[in-house]
Amino acid sequence: MNQKTVIIIFIVLSFAFVSNSINIYLKPFIENNSNLHTKESEGRLVWQRNNCQTCHQLYGLGGYLGPDLTNVISSPGKGVNYVIGLLRTGNATMPAYHLREEEEAQLIAFLISVDRTGKSSPLEFEPLPFGQIKQK
Ligand code: HEC
Repeated sequence: MNQKTVIIIFIVLSFAFVSNSINIYLKPFIENNSNLHTKESEGRLVWQRNNCQTCHQLYGLGGYLGPDLTNVISSPGKGVNYVIGLLRTGNATMPAYHLREEEEAQLIAFLISVDRTGKSSPLEFEPLPFGQIKQK
């Protein structure tokens, strides 16, 4: 390979590197990312900001002071109004939350989307030695 070929390869690869870098770094500004901020994703942030997971589980994971909330929306006798009511008033063990209406709506959208992903009832599983679980 003579020196001229090496220089051409170097220039082509440099050009590819620079144009690819420009493409990657400009992408967030050019593309419309508004669909990344959905009501559900904002609701997940409300969930995290208010530390719901310290007392509640989703898919069986989280704190164990309160019940698993994966299917609270579709559970018989529960649902959206039940959740909003409990959030606003709290009870002896569940603290009351003074969220803005927009935050409540986002939180509900998040819980609805979690509910649609399937069923989670940790009570239907039996823990086995060595950390496995067996469905009852
Ligand atoms: C300090 C612990 C704690 C935190 C934090 C907490 N909860 Fe609770 N929550 C509870 C307890 C305990 C209950 C059970 C109350 C009862 O059954 O009387 C409960 C019950 C609930 C229920 C009713 C569940 C059912 O199946 O009946 C919902 C819905 C709920 N909480 C939502 C939330 C949300 C949303 C957040 C975050 C904004 C949150 N909780 C934060 C402790 C907590």
